[in-house]
This record gives sequence, C-alpha cells and structure tokens, in this order.
Amino acid sequence: MKNVNKKCINPSCGLIYDIENNIYECSCGSLLDINYLNIPEKSLIDKFYHRRNHGGNIYNESGVWRFRELINFADIEPDDFSQCSDKLVSLDGAEGRLSRPYNMSKVSEYAQVNNNCFYLQPEGYNPSGSFKDNGMSTAVTHAKLLKVRKIICASTGNTSASAAMYSSNENIDCDVFIPRGEIAPGKLGQAFQFGAQVIQVEGNFDDALAQSLEYAKEINGYTVNSVNPFRIEGQKTVVYRILEHLDWNPPDWIVYPGGALGNTSSCGKALIELHRWGWIKKIPRIVVVNAHGANTFYNLVNGIFENEKLIWNNGNPNLNLIDRYYEHMKKQNIFPRTKATAIQIGKPANIVKALRALEFTKGIVIQVEDKDMFDGMSIVGLNGFDCELASGAVPAGIRHLRQEELIKKDDIVVGILTGRQKDPKMAVDYHTNPDNTFARPPKDIDQYNV
Ligand code: F0G
Repeated sequence: MKNVNKKCINPSCGLIYDIENNIYECSCGSLLDINYLNIPEKSLIDKFYHRRNHGGNIYNESGVWRFRELINFADIEPDDFSQCSDKLVSLDGAEGRLSRPYNMSKVSEYAQVNNNCFYLQPEGYNPSGSFKDNGMSTAVTHAKLLKVRKIICASTGNTSASAAMYSSNENIDCDVFIPRGEIAPGKLGQAFQFGAQVIQVEGNFDDALAQSLEYAKEINGYTVNSVNPFRIEGQKTVVYRILEHLDWNPPDWIVYPGGALGNTSSCGKALIELHRWGWIKKIPRIVVVNAHGANTFYNLVNGIFENEKLIWNNGNPNLNLIDRYYEHMKKQNIFPRTKATAIQIGKPANIVKALRALEFTKGIVIQVEDKDMFDGMSIVGLNGFDCELASGAVPAGIRHLRQEELIKKDDIVVGILTGRQKDPKMAVDYHTNPDNTFARPPKDIDQYNV
C-alpha cells in the first residue's frame, strides 16, 4: 500500500484520492491535504541537523529537501542520491538554504520585545526572492512526476516569479496570470526573465486567480497556486527551520502577513502533524497580519461583518457567511487596496484551511495600516536585512500586539519576512520624505558639509 494520498480536509467527508492527478478540490468542494500514513521517527531530528554539513549533496543543502522524510510524497528512498536527483526539483539546493531565524536588535526595540527571544526569518533570501520557492520546489516536483506540459498560476508577483524560475529550469512551459499594473516591477521582470508567458488580466488578483483556474481546467494545465496541496507541503519547511534553530522548542508566536493564506495553512498543517507524531507538545500561536485595505480574513474571523465570528467548526465553517461577505464587497464596490500589492487579495483561497490553523493554534488575526508596514519594512532595512512592504506587516503587527499586551515582552516570537524588496521605489520614496519615522532623506552635495 502507498504511504501517501490526498484527503478532503472536511472531517465529515474525508474522501481519499490518490496523488497521481492534479485534483486539488474534493467533490464536496473542500480543499485537499496531502495525507501521510507513516509516522516519522523523532530521531530524524539528528539526521536533519547533520545534513547541514551537506558534503556537496544539494538535497541536503536545500532547506526544503533536507527535511525530505517529512514531505516524502514522491516516495523516494531519502538516502539514495540518484532517486533524489531523478525526482526532486531543486534549484541546486538554493531553496530554504539561507532562511532561518535571525535576531534583529533594532526591530526588537521597535517592536518592544526582548532581543534574545525575538527572531525574524528572511524568506526573501530564497533564489527567486520570496518564501514561494519552498512550496514551488515541491509543487513542481509533483508536476514533474505527472509529466505535465504546462504550469499555470495567478499571482501578485512572487508566485509567478518562483513558478517561472522552476519551470524554466525544468523545461516546462509556464503561463502566469497577473492583475495588470498591480504587481511590483521587479516581480514582473522576473516572469519575463524566466521565460514565462505573461497574461495580463483586468481587475485584481482574485479575478486573475478565477481566470487562471478556469483556463487550467480547459487545457488540463497544472495549477501551482497555494490551493495546490503540494505547495503547502514545501511551505511546512519554513516551520521546520524555525524549530530546528530553537532546538525543537516551539516559540510562543509565529507571525505571518496574510494574503491567500497558504502560509497560515502550511504552518497549521506542520504543527498539527508534528504534534500528532509526538515531536512537539507546546503549540505556538499563529498571528495573521492583514493589510487594513485587504482585510477579509480580519473582518470575518473577528465578527466585524454581521457580528458573526467565522470559525473552523470542525471542518464545517459557515460558508454562507463568506459568500455573503463577497457579495457585500461586490455590491458596495469594495476592492482590496493596499500599497503592499503582494497581499492585495480580497478572496483568500485557503480561508478554510487557515481557519483550521487558527483553531489548532489559538491563532489571531489583526490588521495594520500601510504606513505601519512602511515603518516595519524600513526598520528591518536598518538591521541590514531587506524585505518588501507586505513583510513589513510582521514587525508592525508584533509592535501592535505588544502595545495591546497580548504578546509579552519575553515571549518567544518568530516573524516571517516573506519576500525581498522588488520595488526599490518603495524605499526611495520612504526615505525621501522626512516625515517618515525612520527616513534618512538624501542631501545635495552643497548641503553635505553643513
Ligand atoms: N508576503 C508576500 C511577499 C507574498 O508574495 C504573499 C503572497 C504573501 C505574503 C501572502 O502569503 O498568500 O500565503 O497568505 N503572494 C502571492 C503571489 C499571492 O501571488 O505571489 P499567503
């Protein structure tokens, strides 16, 4: 019997599918999980640690495939190099290689938490410049197993950059649907640079996703958005790297910016599995930080809309409430609007999986203003790390939760900086305006000695 299948996330359905197809949705309409039947031995922790001394093996060097026993849907013999190189997709071991928790003293001061228990993990230091490479290496591995001819995604820019990068390296065609004029120039440039076919859609990311899913169905293309459960598998390694750095003692909080909520879902799944396997006892609480201008999840979870809090409800959340919210957005002409275009999303495709993650981790959802994200992004820069505006939501959100006393000064907090700066104008504009908190405006030469 195979060790892995796909399983409906709704416990009262629980339908099983094999993995040799590109189905990402159950016939009941729920999303699917990758479901492993074996329980990995905790002694693997030592093995993962020793693999950091990789000896030229790119699957040990990769911060994704180093943990291959925990995401072994390709059913390889993990120590057999030729099986790894036949089946696993990697950009020469670069995905997840540099991202782990770092202390950043200026950010801890800004967020008002103790520096020695505060960490940020720069996922922007992945080969295409965002956390997407974690999950794209696994999704494209599955695409390769299926021998697909065309990879398809919709994107606010980072997914398309990552999909295009891996597709070009594997010689697979890639079509990317992007909302015209709404993605950072550096991200758009990457899609072209990596040889993808760019398809510009009128509207926002939600429109681009709907059209790309339809198109993928028509031509039997392979969707690599985070509705694809193999994306979620790779993104679990973000959590493994956090835990490894903390000697597998879970932190109190893990903080992400929220867009389509793939990260939230993958963090939840990683923690649920590790807990079930007996690898961890303490469960960190997830914080999702929405942009104020794209705050669907915030509004629904906190009962801002119709005074009803959207909850997991054992796999049966009130989907009508979500539909009514989307209807309300349409009627009132509410469009997601934030300068953090990466998370300018109105209909988070993974909303139900994310509810499960919140339920399991006693997670919370907050929102921050664009100007706070700018400060968050800039203070990260002053520590010598760079991140994009959406990632600036993380320090801003932690500061907000400290001010509300929900996070304590000496709680162990890990924030995920999801992407690297791909729109330099953001930093230039911020620093050119002396009113901004951390601005250091340029001087003309004649002012230089004054
Ligand atoms: N941060 C960055 C830098 C992103 O690019 C995204 C999503 C998110 C956060 C949100 O993550 O969807 O897991 O909640 N970008 C997608 C894209 C939508 O197309 O690149 P999420």
